[in-house]
Order: sequence, then C-alpha cells, then structure tokens
Amino acid sequence: MGKSDTFACSACGARNSKWAGRCDACGAWNTISEDAGLSAGPGKSLGAARGRSVTLSDLSDADDPAPRTESRVAELDRVLGGGLVAASAVLIGGDPGIGKSTLLLQATAAFAKLGMSTVYISGEEAAAQVRMRARRLGLEDAAVRLGAETNLRDILTTLEAERPDLVVIDSIQTMWLDTVDSAPGSVSQVRAACHELVTFAKRRGIAVVLVGHVTKEGQIAGPRVVEHMVDTVLYFEGERGQGHRILRAVKNRFGPADEIGVFEMTGRGLAQVRNPSALFLTDRDAPVPGAAVFAGIEGTRPVLCEFQALVAPSPLGQARRQVLGWDAGRLAMILAVLDARCGISFAGMDVYLNIAGGLRVSDPSADLAVAAALMSALRDAPLPAGTAVFGELSLSGALRPAGLSENRLKEAGKLGFSKALVSAGTLVPADGAIEAKQYSDLTAFVDDVFGAAEG
Ligand code: TYD
Ligand code: MG
Repeated sequence: MGKSDTFACSACGARNSKWAGRCDACGAWNTISEDAGLSAGPGKSLGAARGRSVTLSDLSDADDPAPRTESRVAELDRVLGGGLVAASAVLIGGDPGIGKSTLLLQATAAFAKLGMSTVYISGEEAAAQVRMRARRLGLEDAAVRLGAETNLRDILTTLEAERPDLVVIDSIQTMWLDTVDSAPGSVSQVRAACHELVTFAKRRGIAVVLVGHVTKEGQIAGPRVVEHMVDTVLYFEGERGQGHRILRAVKNRFGPADEIGVFEMTGRGLAQVRNPSALFLTDRDAPVPGAAVFAGIEGTRPVLCEFQALVAPSPLGQARRQVLGWDAGRLAMILAVLDARCGISFAGMDVYLNIAGGLRVSDPSADLAVAAALMSALRDAPLPAGTAVFGELSLSGALRPAGLSENRLKEAGKLGFSKALVSAGTLVPADGAIEAKQYSDLTAFVDDVFGAAEG
C-alpha cells in the first residue's frame, strides 16, 4: 500500500490510487470512496526478528463455557444464543429509525436491573434526548450510565476508569479516532474504531454492543471487515409503517445463526411478541385465491406465515415479476419448473409475490407454498381452508421433504390448521392431529389440488 492509495473499497477494503466505478479486487460497483489510510505496515519481511513461540493445545482440552447473562427479554436472549456472553462483541445493524437505539436502551436497562454495570454512549443524540427516550420507555430509574461523545480516545479513557460489564456504542459510524486522518464514518475510521473497541473490550472483559447503520443495499455501512471483527452480527429489520420488528442473528460465534426474535414497536417502546405465527397470519373467515400458508422454520423456531400471489395479464411486452420478502431468483425458478414440468405458463402475466406482515423468508421449503400461491392465483381457486404447505422443489419438479417437519406440523396444529400439503417422505407427528397429504412431484401436487389443466 503506497502513500498515494487514498481510495478504498467499502466492500472488500482494497485500496487504490484513483477513483473507479467498479472495484478491481471484488467487482463491486460504487463502493470506492476517498479514504485516508492507516499508517503503512512495516512492509519488510519478517525474516530478521524472531517472534515468541505460541502455546499450542489439544482439541480435547477442557474449557469453561463462556459466562452468559440472560437479559430475561426472551426474544433477545434467544437471538444472542442464550444470553449475552461476557467480553463478547456484538454488532447490530438496521435502517435508520427502525428502533436500534430503543432496543438497546431497553436491553441495557434490563441488564442493569440484573446488577450489571452498564454504560450507554450515544454519538448521535445528546444526553437529554436519550433521557427523554428513557422517560418515554419508563426506564428513567434504570442504573444505566449515560454519555454523549464521539471521540474514541475519551471514551476509552472513561471506560478504563469505569470498568463496566457492558458498553453500548450508538453508533460505530459516529466514532472517530484522532490517529486516523479521515472523517468519521469513512471506511478507515469505522474499521479502526471497531478494532480499538473490540480489542479494548476483550482485554478488559467488557461486553461491547455496537450499533451500525446499513447502506441502501442493506449491509452495514463501512467495510465488511467490521462484521468479521465482532463475535455476533444481528440485524434489526421491519417495515417502518408496520409495528413489528425482527431481530435476526446472521453470525454468532456463541450460538446458532439465523435465530429470530420478534418485537412490536408500541408507544412505550418495543414489546416482545411471543407467538409470531399469530402475528404473520392474516385473520380472515374464508380462504382467498392466491394465498398459501407456509409452515416455516426461522432458526430453531417454527413460524407460520402467508404467501400472497397476484397474477394479472401484462399490458407490457416484458411481464413484471415483483417479490417482497422472498428471493426473486427463486420465484423465477419456480415459474420455470411450473412451465417446463407441468406445462403451466405464466408468460404474458405479471406476477406479484408478497409475504404478509413484512417477514423475510429464506427457508428453501417455502417453494411448495409459493407454487401453491401462484397456482391458486392463476386459477382463481382458494386452497382448502385450514391448510398449511411446505416442501422443497428441485429443478426436475421432484419435491424433497423439509427438515424439522414435525415441529412445523405441530405449530400449524396449535394454530388451528387441520391439513397440510407436503413432500413425499415428510415425517409427520404420530398424534394424527394434522392430516398431511404427501406429493412426490409438482405435477402430482398441481393435478390433485387444482385439477387437471383447463381447456
Ligand atoms: P430509534 O430507536 O431512534 O431508531 P434507530 O436508533 O434505529 O434510528 O427509534 C425510532 C422510531 O421509533 C421513531 O420513529 C419513534 C419510534 N418509537 C416508538 O414508536 N415508540 C417508542 O417508545 C420509541 C422510543 C420510539
Ligand atoms: Mg438511533
């Protein structure tokens, strides 16, 4: 890295001497920006000076499990993998205004109530604003120490003296180090600030929670390397207009990734939603065409949600495919399998696919629910009442059984569903509470549920 390499890619961190629209190193577009670097490394070979030898251990050596504290906010504890691990680093990303500061103020207060010493540093709001939020949340008596500061040197000096068990930094993009010669929020500031905080916290045994802004592509602004530096990465998601929020673990060194916690934004802060399936299912008396209830798994928890499809003749040459909450490429695949294997074409039709309630699903066994919603919309024929659907579709049109099927079916049963349409080979709970019809391929499913092709 030369002194002249003043441009950096925010996706991969590669450095360049000039600006470019596309990063040569990782191929990402519009990620390069001006960014004064850290001082160059030694730049010479390690040959001359010898390091000290590293202590090696065996895989069988016993370790104490990392001490954890449960906040007693169950939706948060689950996503953390069973509570906050001492001296761990957690990064929470999310859109502006989604409720990160609210969540963390509530969580900090919950930990303080359990006797942890906690510090909340806000780089975005004045202390008075944070206090106002605390009053609104009914937390003005919580033993949370509050600071409004962005200078990391001063913050670390304060933490060195206070030695709290937990510190929240809201947000990492506002922090700046006087040793780094660029503006707060730039790639090198964010990277350096994160590195300082994480290493300081590990050395002093302090758990640190960093708030990170996300870019419009939905990634935490700043270099990807920030996500590598921390132990746990959580995303706080939701539609601003809707009340509920989903906290999702995308990386967790101390627990399973992909767990979700569901909250609702109320006038007095975030409330836990203990039965998310009920939230994501729309209430209605009679089934409507285009709707299919998917019995999914989020992390380790079964969650039911409704896929809604709308199929309409396209006035344009190029038919529209619009998806909310699901993968657009996967929708294209299902449309192609319906066409190639079942002879059902959506050509000349606009297709809209939504997940009700703003949930985002990545479970591959949603395929069959999507196919069911699409067919139901195309034929204008509702699925039978009280039916849940799941199964993974392969390109050949074969249906593969989904994992954790018994949990899915039990959850559906609890919510009053009596039938399920699933892949052949699906394990069904022995209690017989749900009648599960099994199909080995998509053609058999379409013929049975929607009847043979019209005309
Ligand atoms: P905030 O936590 O400031 O979001 P972030 O830190 O992610 O930017 O939350 C902002 C929104 O939440 C704001 O639009 C107001 C709303 N809100 C409530 O609806 N109820 C509440 O009790 C609080 C504190 C905020
Ligand atoms: Mg905030």
